[in-house]
Amino acid sequence: MSALQEIRDRFTPVLASLTDDVASSLSMIRSSQDPKFGDFQANCAMPLAKKSGVAPRDLAQQMVDRAELDDLCETVEVAGPGFINLKLRTDWLQQCAREIVADERLGVQRVEPKKIVIDYSSPNVAKPMHVGHLRSSVIGNCLESVLRFLGHDVISDNHIGDWGTQFGMIIFGYQNFVDENAYSNEPVAELARLYRLVNQLSDYHEACRKQPALEEQVENIAEQIENLEHSEEDLKKKKKALKKLRSEQGGLNEALSGMLLKRDAVDSDTELQKLATGHSDIARLARLETAKLHSGDETNRALWDEFLPACMKALDHVYEKLGVSFDKTLGESFYQSMLADVVADLTKKGLAICSDGAICVFAEDNAAPFIVQKSDGAFTYATTDLATIRYRVEEFGAQIMLYVVDTRQSEHFNLLMDTARRWGYADVEIQHVNFGTVLGDDRRPFKTRSGDTVGLESLLDEAVARAYDVVVANDPAGSLDEDTRKSVAEAVGIGGIKYADLHHNRESDYVFNWDKMLAKNGDTATYIQYANARINGIFRKGEIDLAKLRSEAESLQLEHASERRLFLQVLSFGDALAVVQREMRPNMLTQFLFDTANRFSTFYQDCPVLKEEDDSVRTSRLLLCDLTARTLTLGLALLGIDAPKQM
Ligand code: ARG
Repeated sequence: MSALQEIRDRFTPVLASLTDDVASSLSMIRSSQDPKFGDFQANCAMPLAKKSGVAPRDLAQQMVDRAELDDLCETVEVAGPGFINLKLRTDWLQQCAREIVADERLGVQRVEPKKIVIDYSSPNVAKPMHVGHLRSSVIGNCLESVLRFLGHDVISDNHIGDWGTQFGMIIFGYQNFVDENAYSNEPVAELARLYRLVNQLSDYHEACRKQPALEEQVENIAEQIENLEHSEEDLKKKKKALKKLRSEQGGLNEALSGMLLKRDAVDSDTELQKLATGHSDIARLARLETAKLHSGDETNRALWDEFLPACMKALDHVYEKLGVSFDKTLGESFYQSMLADVVADLTKKGLAICSDGAICVFAEDNAAPFIVQKSDGAFTYATTDLATIRYRVEEFGAQIMLYVVDTRQSEHFNLLMDTARRWGYADVEIQHVNFGTVLGDDRRPFKTRSGDTVGLESLLDEAVARAYDVVVANDPAGSLDEDTRKSVAEAVGIGGIKYADLHHNRESDYVFNWDKMLAKNGDTATYIQYANARINGIFRKGEIDLAKLRSEAESLQLEHASERRLFLQVLSFGDALAVVQREMRPNMLTQFLFDTANRFSTFYQDCPVLKEEDDSVRTSRLLLCDLTARTLTLGLALLGIDAPKQM
């Protein structure tokens, strides 16, 4: 049930006789921003008239005359230079109301189902999960829910990185530095410590090695700048060159100070210093452990088998807090036995060729190749992703594959899509649903004071703790019992974090901000949750029997402009979801819910509900309240956010 779709359908045959590009004309039929222009506006007559040389107002009038709108619209006006303003008939809206009130899908129609595999979250295990993984988990989970709700056959797959170089580092760390006690008490924390330690020591040696050369570069560039400053060069050219050099200098200085920090962290700590001296070749040795694992070494395989379940348990902990689960968790290790065949097949088909000892697929428009086997024989992330595509098509019959992964992997996915297409998967629709970075106040990737990327789990705990304070502050009368407060804090905290992520355009970076995220007013989960709780409060106070209310759907009246605007909003739920699907953008759903909550708030200011004396108006307004609450609750659920009835 969509009023917009209905109007577009009426105009479609008319437009088809006027233009080849019906779709772009249809996209110019929209709901009106201002009710004084009716409920919907069609602005397509002007551009069409320009092409055909007819006066725009005349063309608009012709379109209106031919569109057969009598049963749908109360008034249709041609205004200004050729706008068409449409106001829907109230009896038509009442018919819609009867249908959506009785429908648990609130009138949202199912689409033609496709088999969709959505790859999201997909962290590298054995490293602590960080806030970057939050985005993929939250965006991916929302898209999964929306696509499934729209009727698609969706498989979510957590393509965990369980076979990468981090395991070599952990194996090396375990064999050299493990604290047995810590390991038996908290294996994952200890493994994470080992990972960080090996990383730190490797970085330290790399810094020591690279420092002299970098210092020389820094000196060089300073000299170049100095010379240029004193040169007789044309002023404009000089300015430009200086600007370029200074920016290079900035980058080099930054790299150098990063390096010095890494050195200093170890040099200033006698324990670390000792470890560093004792393991100068640590990076290479850790890589060797990875290679041994990959080539089937028994000891390393046994360690991997021991580490993995602990890592998975820690991950599940986070997913449980987030309320996210997957249909499949087929990580990189799952595909290992298929990789040799992938390379053989690509080679046989002439797609992959040997270049500098490595086996590569070259794309037309990308300088760097897609390396499917390195010169040392190792398969890569790319090989695994190709094997995964084949598996998903053969085993699941995937027609669409979505990858909810950081924008920084765009090159990888472009090459992957290009290779897959040429490999024989041209009819599979593959999309990189990319997203930006979470930033701290300093506009750099979000970090804690200690300099670590924030652990995801402690972040979620903090969200709930802060939300608890918000809940308590908003309940001065103490009407919520302790259990309710806790469960509301859970919904507000986790919901707040999710919403803050989802309401940004996914491609943008955004700054993580607790206060904004949990604010009671503004574009937040809290605001929408409160709107829903408020409606449920009305029902409690009025002791409303919802089943009875819903059986009176024919009572809906839309006399007041705010009532009408609210109802039209609820009625456009399916339109919003269609845009989420078309653009893979959860923020189109958050925007819809925010608008809905806002329109409810205006309605509630303008129109008394329980205090309304006229019974039929009161029933009508209660129906609107109920539809709003159901829309907010369902919409939040699709975002992965709970909607408490009381808060
Ligand atoms: N494990 C990767 C990372 O953390 C993301 C994997 C995304 N999925 C994929 N099929 N490549 O960067």
